Amino acid sequence: MITIDARKCTQDGLCVLACPVNIIKMDGGFPEEVDGAADRCIRCGHCVAVCPTGALDNALTPAGEYLPVPDKRPDAEAMENLLVSRRSARSFRKKPVEREQLERLLETARCAPTASNAQKLSWTMIQDPQRLDRVRELSLEWMGTNPARSHYMEAARQGRDVILRDATALAVVHGPARSFWTAIDSTLALTYMELLAATMGLGTCWAGLVTYASTVVPELLPVLGVPEGSKVGGAIMLGHPRLKHRLIPPRDAARVTWL
Ligand SMILES: Cc1cc2nc3c(=O)[nH]c(=O)nc-3n(C[C@H](O)[C@H](O)[C@H](O)COP(=O)(O)O)c2cc1C
Repeated sequence: MITIDARKCTQDGLCVLACPVNIIKMDGGFPEEVDGAADRCIRCGHCVAVCPTGALDNALTPAGEYLPVPDKRPDAEAMENLLVSRRSARSFRKKPVEREQLERLLETARCAPTASNAQKLSWTMIQDPQRLDRVRELSLEWMGTNPARSHYMEAARQGRDVILRDATALAVVHGPARSFWTAIDSTLALTYMELLAATMGLGTCWAGLVTYASTVVPELLPVLGVPEGSKVGGAIMLGHPRLKHRLIPPRDAARVTWL
């Protein structure tokens, strides 16, 4: 699986340091893979990515498939500004989001980290208005049974879309139903999507009510395109936002224990 070009390798051992699952060893010579390495490799690609001379290749993540790290990345200030100023959108225009924009979001969201680099998530991107209506309907059905949510039901009766906020798209991410990591991996992928969407002028809002409803209304799962054996890891509404936020609201101070 691991091959070393002896003409390029400087025996610096960086690949050994980079490997999270300890499948590369150096016993005073060139790096080599340990027994059973191919079964343990998580395809994270670090061994190839850190080699300064391009001496190492990994058949599971061939060197030819890597991209160069871009020079242009936001500095800390630009990143902080984005993180503190992104907001949930609660009112969307009727104009649908272009397919290319949604594809761009998915392209980045798939690069979010996953536990053990499992990459087991899959997506449903719903734009069909009838299907969005069905999502609203089934979610409201669940909400109607919950007295604590009666204020939402009242607003819904008055014609407000309390479930999807009139969003024109709903991104649903799903993964193995029995995996502890599905929720965490999904949250990270949606966070990537949400932050990139903010830079593209799109509005987003976490669809927590739909996500919760999917755990108690089984009919919702096929409507959300969730395959058998999978569960919803999270969902966000997407669309062209109607409102522009002029100010950044206050937040509680970080509660921290320094030990
Ligand atoms: C996991 C999660 C689920 C949420 N679900 C909903 C939802 O179903 N509907 C909604 O309008 N907002 C939802 N929100 C948005 C939160 O209310 C919002 O993030 C919070 O009020 C902070 O506002 P901000 O996102 O503008 O900073 C959800 C947020 C998170 C993180």
